[in-house]
Amino acid sequence: MAAYDYETHSYDVVVVGAGGSGLRATLGMAEQGLRTACVTKVFPTRSHTVAAQGGIAASLSNMGPDHWQWHMYDTVKGSDWLGDTDAMEYLAREAPKAVYELEHYGVPFSRTEEGKIYQRPFGGHTTEFGEGPPVQRTCAAADRTGHAILHTLYGQSLKHNAEFYIEYFAIDLIMSEDGQCQGVVCWKLDDGTLHVFNAKMVVLATGGYGRAYFNCTSAHTCTGDGGGMVARAGLPLQDMEFVQFHPTGIFGPGMLITEGARGEGGYLTNAEGERFMERYAPTYKDLASRDVVSRCMTLEIREGRGVGPNKDHIHLNLSHLPAETLNLRLPGISESARIFAGVDVTKEPIPVLPTVHYNMGGIPTNYWGEVLNPTSDDPDAIAPGLMAVGEAGCASVHGANRLGSNSLIDLVVFGRAAAIRAAEVVDPKAPNPELNSASIDAALERFDRLRHADGETPTAALRLEMQTTMQQDAAVFRTDTTLAEGVKKMQAVAARLDDLKVTDRSLIWNSDLMETLELTNLMPNALATINGAEARKESRGAHAHEDYPDRDDKTWRKHTLARVEGNKVTLDYRPVHLDPLTSAEEGGIDLKKIAPKARVY
Ligand code: FUM
Repeated sequence: MAAYDYETHSYDVVVVGAGGSGLRATLGMAEQGLRTACVTKVFPTRSHTVAAQGGIAASLSNMGPDHWQWHMYDTVKGSDWLGDTDAMEYLAREAPKAVYELEHYGVPFSRTEEGKIYQRPFGGHTTEFGEGPPVQRTCAAADRTGHAILHTLYGQSLKHNAEFYIEYFAIDLIMSEDGQCQGVVCWKLDDGTLHVFNAKMVVLATGGYGRAYFNCTSAHTCTGDGGGMVARAGLPLQDMEFVQFHPTGIFGPGMLITEGARGEGGYLTNAEGERFMERYAPTYKDLASRDVVSRCMTLEIREGRGVGPNKDHIHLNLSHLPAETLNLRLPGISESARIFAGVDVTKEPIPVLPTVHYNMGGIPTNYWGEVLNPTSDDPDAIAPGLMAVGEAGCASVHGANRLGSNSLIDLVVFGRAAAIRAAEVVDPKAPNPELNSASIDAALERFDRLRHADGETPTAALRLEMQTTMQQDAAVFRTDTTLAEGVKKMQAVAARLDDLKVTDRSLIWNSDLMETLELTNLMPNALATINGAEARKESRGAHAHEDYPDRDDKTWRKHTLARVEGNKVTLDYRPVHLDPLTSAEEGGIDLKKIAPKARVY
C-alpha cells in the first residue's frame, strides 16, 4: 500500500453530515461550549434536507385544536406499532419546543393572518386519537421548508463558532480494540489530502440510502455512508426492511411532489377519473398514511386503471385549487411539475408514481441518539463514543412507516437531544482518546485498495445492478419468491465489489473513487434491507408481504438487527420499547389509547 500522510484534528465532538439533524446537533453542541467540528461531503446548504418540501409536524394548535398526545397516537399508528414508545413520546412532546426554537433562530415560516406559524394537513395526522377530522399540524415555509431550515441552522452554527470541514468524505470510523468510537478518517475532495478527526463523540448524521434503489426522490448523495461505516465497524443496522415509497414522485424522473399538495386539497385519480382513495380509505381518503396510499395506487395500476398510454401511473390533480394557494403555498412543486413533467398545474394533472423516499431503518439508537450495540444480555447496550441522528439513525420513532412531516421534526428533536446528551457525557476538560493506529491503517488500506481497484466491473455498472435488483425485488409489494430471488441476486451483486474497476487513480476531485466508496456504503444497506425483508413473514407498514398479508404482533412486533460482513448478513432481533416516558398519572398518554389494533384510515 502507498503510504498516506494525514493531518490530525482533535475536537470534543465531530458531526459527520450537515443536513437538518447534523446542523441541529452541531449547533446544539457548539452552543453548549463543546469544541465541535462538522465534516460534510457537500456544502451544508446542499444537503438533502434542502429538498424537504411540505413541512415539519408539531402540535402548535395554530389552526385548530391539537395535542401532543394526538400527535403521539398518530405516530404510533403510523409506525404500525413498531416504533419505540419512549422515543415517540419524546418526539411528540418536544416537537413544539423544537419548532419554536427554529422560529427564534430565524426560520421564515409561512404565516396565518394573525402572524402565527402556518400549518397544513398531512397524511395520517388526525385529531381525537384518530376519531376526529384531519388536523393542521404541519408547519410550513411554503413548500420549501427544508431549504428554510437548513439555511437558518447553518447560519446559527457559524454564529456559535462550530467549525466546518466542507467537501470532506468520511472513509471509516476509528474504533478502539474494545469497541469505543474515537473518530473518523476523511478524504478532502478538493486537494486529495487525508485527515484524521479525533473526537470524544462522533455523531453520524449522514442521511438515508435512497440511492440503493433505481427510482427515488433522494439526492445522488444519499448513499447511506453512516450505515456503511457502522456495518464495517461490526455494529448492526436496524429495521432496514422498511423502505418508504412516497405516493407522489413525478412519473419518470422521480422528483418529489409534496404531500402538502394533497394537504392543500389536491387529489389522486385513476384512468376513469375516479378519486379512488375514497374507496380504500373512506375517512381520510387522500390523506391516509403514505404506505397505504402508495399501495392503493399500485393496486389501481395493477388492475388496469393506471393513466397514460401504458396505464402505468396515476394523476395528481391541483388545477381546481385557487391560484393564490398554488402561488403562496405550492410555488416549488408548481415549478417542478413544469420543469420535470412539462405540466402547467393550473390546467393539467401531474403524472405521479410511488417512489422510494425514506428509510425508516438505520443505525439503532436510544432517544438520546446514542448508538446501540445490543447483546444477548442487554438489548439496549450502548456503543461508546458514537451517536446517530436523522435518517441515518433509527430511534425508533417511525417504526414500519413514517408519517409525512415527522422527518423534519425527527431531525431537529433528535439533533437537539444528541447535543443535550453529549453535554452530559462529554467532558471538555478530559484528554482526547489515544487513537488506535491499526484502525486508521485499516481505513487507509481500504481506501487505497479501492483507489487502485483493477477488476472488470465499472462502479456505475454494479451500482445499476444493485439498484434494479432492489427496485424489482424489494418493492411496494413483496412475496416470498421475489424476496428470495432478491437475496440471491444481491449476494451475487455484492460479491462483485471485489471485481471493481476504478479508472481514475488521482486524489483530487476523483468522482470515480468517491462513487466507488459510496457504492461500498450503499451495498451493506441494501443487503440488510433485502435480507431483513425476506425474513419478516408478516405485513407491517411499508413491508407489504403478499404471502403474509396480516400484521403478526405475537411473532413480529420486534426490531430486526442486521450485521453485514462482506455479502453475508446475520439477523437478530431486539424487543420494541413498550413503556412510555411518563405514566398516565404523571400526565402521559393512557396506554389503552395506543394499544395495537387494526390500522384503518
Ligand atoms: O411530501 C413531503 O413534503 C415530504 C415530507 C416528508 O417526507 O416528511
